[in-house]
Amino acid sequence: MSRILITSALPYINGIKHLGTLAGSMLPADVYARFQRARGRETLYICATDEHGTPTELAAAAAGTDPASFCAEQHEVQHRLGRQFGLSWDHFGRSSSPQNHRLTQRFAQQLWEAGFIEERVTQQVYSNADKRFLPDRYVIGTCPHCGYESARGDQCENCTRVLDPADLIHPRSAVSGSTDIEIRDSKHLFLRQSVFSDKLRGWIESKRGTWPLLVTSIALKWLDEGLQDRGITRDLAWGVPVNAFEWGPNPEGQTPDIEGLAGKVFYVWYDAPIEYIAATAEWADAKAQEAGTGPAADATWERWWKGPEAADVKYVQFMGKDNVPFHTVGFPCTLMGVNSRETAPWKLVDELKGFNWLDYYGGKFSTSQQRGVFMDHALELLPPDYWRWWIMANAPETSDATFGWEQFQSQVNADLADVLGNFVNRICKFTETRFEGIVPEGGAPGALDEKLEADVLAKLREYTEFMEDREYRKSAAALRQLWVLGNQYLTEAAPWTAIKTDRDRAAVAVRYGLNLAALFAKVSEPFIPFAAEKISEGLGEPYPAVWPSLDGQGVLSALPPGRAIRAPEVLFKKVENEQVAEWRERFGGPELETQA
Ligand code: MF3
Ligand code: ZN
Repeated sequence: MSRILITSALPYINGIKHLGTLAGSMLPADVYARFQRARGRETLYICATDEHGTPTELAAAAAGTDPASFCAEQHEVQHRLGRQFGLSWDHFGRSSSPQNHRLTQRFAQQLWEAGFIEERVTQQVYSNADKRFLPDRYVIGTCPHCGYESARGDQCENCTRVLDPADLIHPRSAVSGSTDIEIRDSKHLFLRQSVFSDKLRGWIESKRGTWPLLVTSIALKWLDEGLQDRGITRDLAWGVPVNAFEWGPNPEGQTPDIEGLAGKVFYVWYDAPIEYIAATAEWADAKAQEAGTGPAADATWERWWKGPEAADVKYVQFMGKDNVPFHTVGFPCTLMGVNSRETAPWKLVDELKGFNWLDYYGGKFSTSQQRGVFMDHALELLPPDYWRWWIMANAPETSDATFGWEQFQSQVNADLADVLGNFVNRICKFTETRFEGIVPEGGAPGALDEKLEADVLAKLREYTEFMEDREYRKSAAALRQLWVLGNQYLTEAAPWTAIKTDRDRAAVAVRYGLNLAALFAKVSEPFIPFAAEKISEGLGEPYPAVWPSLDGQGVLSALPPGRAIRAPEVLFKKVENEQVAEWRERFGGPELETQA
């Protein structure tokens, strides 16, 4: 049996995430983690906040605080909201942790000593007024091609041409507006990605047909365009400091330019993926601390990541499509380079699930424009299961998907309230009124019950397979069909009619119905954990303890006769038209489509 290691793309620290971020990484990862745990597999789901970079420094300054305090606060907010959404992280770490500092620096040292890092002098824009270097996109000016006056130094938004800050006419700082800027030489480190081109291509080719087409085609496109060496350091204060003074000579006998590199930090996209590993160390340290045994031994977390100990681990990553190049090219380069110095190599990703965009009325969710629904507001409106269900049932897998209140309302009302909620309520209420709330004994199953059992088993097998394959739309459709089987069965078996003439017949139907409800609680849990728990509570201890057996043995007979049950409180209230009207007003509705 294999162990399952899961990571979802690390959310940027600045700002509360919108439903689009949830849809493309954290939520599908959670559904998969819950599913694998329910299957009885040892599972570790790791996530963290991605905390470094210029945007963090600027956001902290705008909030009137320093980056460290800003990040500490924002991390708490994201942690709390994630938990409220039911995200079952084993650890939610921070890329600014000491563990990540150490690992990021250790990897860089190994890359340098193996000869995969090169020093180069680059020209950077320095703002005298802001007393800082400015990344290209924080330099604005007039586009030399189209005359647009607020073109960014990396690209003109108006004519889409790629720019260099030096191309801009009347360049100025986007931070302060100051024109007192100059170009300065600055020493930086570059990872020689081009060395790994062939190795990467072979690796990606080997994933063709197993990974989603979206993922392999993005990766191969990058390789086809030719891999550029990548700058992995920046002139910033907030980040993992470059520790070149600790490094030995490279294979050519050169030592790094300690003075030239002083005061620099690693680039956020270099250190963030390393945090997947470092957060696992954070997880182990936190557990050891809880147990009062001091810092964890490396072996307790390395067994998930490194060498023969990790041979039985299947490592699965989740992310939106914009993140795919960094995970199929950038991070693997780092690991391949580091592994050239390791006897026990670090694991590369085994399965990579990439997503398209979830849009809001056909346009992008936007953090900067506050367009769409964000996690905190979503939880004010409705319990998390509504969002979890809708998002996953409409996961942007083969194409972009779009959120709209009208479709959201009709879908959650139909699936959750009319189908699942109604079924559980009907069968439990009937048991309470006619069988004193006890799972009844007596009677022998007939053709209808046997057919139900066969249909349920077939659907359950289909559902389980889709879940193993991380096909969320198909999984949700199969799960919905399972729920529908329940309602159909109750309508046909009609225990409320049978009870008038044949109590045994009614008892069989009720027993099967209750067993269905128990099964639903178990297998729906990855999508709607809060409702699943309510159903389970109503039926006694959470049950069945593990994923139902698919071998045909008693999929609907595990709930013992004689057990006392009670109907759960209303599982899903319907979303009303007045609510939709109010939310459309507050967050924007179909009128946005024309503006998108
Ligand atoms: N913060 C990035 C984003 O939201 C994702 C970082 S993923 C990791 O797009 F690889 F860096 F961890
Ligand atoms: Zn332009």
